[in-house]
Amino acid sequence: MKSKIILLGPPGSGKGTQGEKLSEKFGYVRLSTGDMLREAVRKETDLGLKAKGFMDSGALVPNDLIINLMKEKIASLGEGTGVIFDGFPRTVEQADALAKQIDIDLALNLDVDDEELITRLTKRRTCPQCNSVYHLTYNPPKKEGFCDKCGSVLYHRDDDKEETVRNRLKVYRENTLPLIDYYRKKGKLVTIEGIGNIDKIFDQVDKALQ
Ligand code: AP5
Repeated sequence: MKSKIILLGPPGSGKGTQGEKLSEKFGYVRLSTGDMLREAVRKETDLGLKAKGFMDSGALVPNDLIINLMKEKIASLGEGTGVIFDGFPRTVEQADALAKQIDIDLALNLDVDDEELITRLTKRRTCPQCNSVYHLTYNPPKKEGFCDKCGSVLYHRDDDKEETVRNRLKVYRENTLPLIDYYRKKGKLVTIEGIGNIDKIFDQVDKALQ
C-alpha cells in the first residue's frame, strides 16, 4: 500500500476534496501548504504577514519560506506515518527539497479543464475552522452557509475571485506543470480524470494507492 502521496493538479482540481477523503479512510496525515498559510495569515504570524500579498494576488509564496515550513512538518512525522502532500511541491525547487527528506511512492495528478476550474472556485465555500470545502451547486452544505462537520460559518476565499483564479491558473502552468514530467520520469506519476462524481473519482484515487 502506497503511503507517501503527492496530490498534483491545478487550483480547484479537487486536491483538498480527495485528500480529505484519503486521510479519513486511511488515517494518513494531510499536509496542505494552502491551509497552513491561510492559518498563518489569520493569526498574523511572521510567515502569514510575509505570505499574504502573494496569496491575495494568486502568486506563489517564495520557495525558501515554503521549504522551511515543510522541512519542520516532515521532520516531525513519526516513522512509517502515511502522508498526503496537498499543494506541495509546487515548483521543481520544492520537489528537489522534498526528495532530500522523503521517498515519495506516488504523485497523483488530477486533470481538469480551465472552465470547470473557474466554475468550481468561484462557487466554492470553505470552512475557516476545519478547512472542509463545499460547492454551492456540486457539493452544498446541509445547512446553507454552515460547515457540516464543525458548524462554523463558511466563507468565500479572497483568491477565489475570477480574476485571481485566472492568475493562479497562469502561475500553475508556468511553475507547477513541469512537475508532471518530473514525476513521470521518476516512474511515480498517475493521472486521473478529475471531472465527474467525487466518490467515483475517489474510487480511482483509492485504486492508485494499492
Ligand atoms: P492552495 O490552498 O493550495 O490552493 P490551490 O492549489 O490553488 O488549490 P485549491 O485549494 O484552490 O483547490 P483544490 O485542488 O484543493 O480543490 P478543492 O478540493 O478545494 O494555495 C493557495 C495559495 O497559497 C496559492 O495560490 C499560493 O499563493 C500559496 N501556496 C500554497 N502552497 C504553496 C506552495 N507549495 N508554494 C508556494 N505557494 C503556495 O475543490 C475545489 C471546489 O470544487 C470545491 O468547491 C469542491 O467542493 C469542488 N469539487 C471538488 N471535486 C469536484 C468534482 N469532482 N466535481 C465537482 N466539484 C468538485
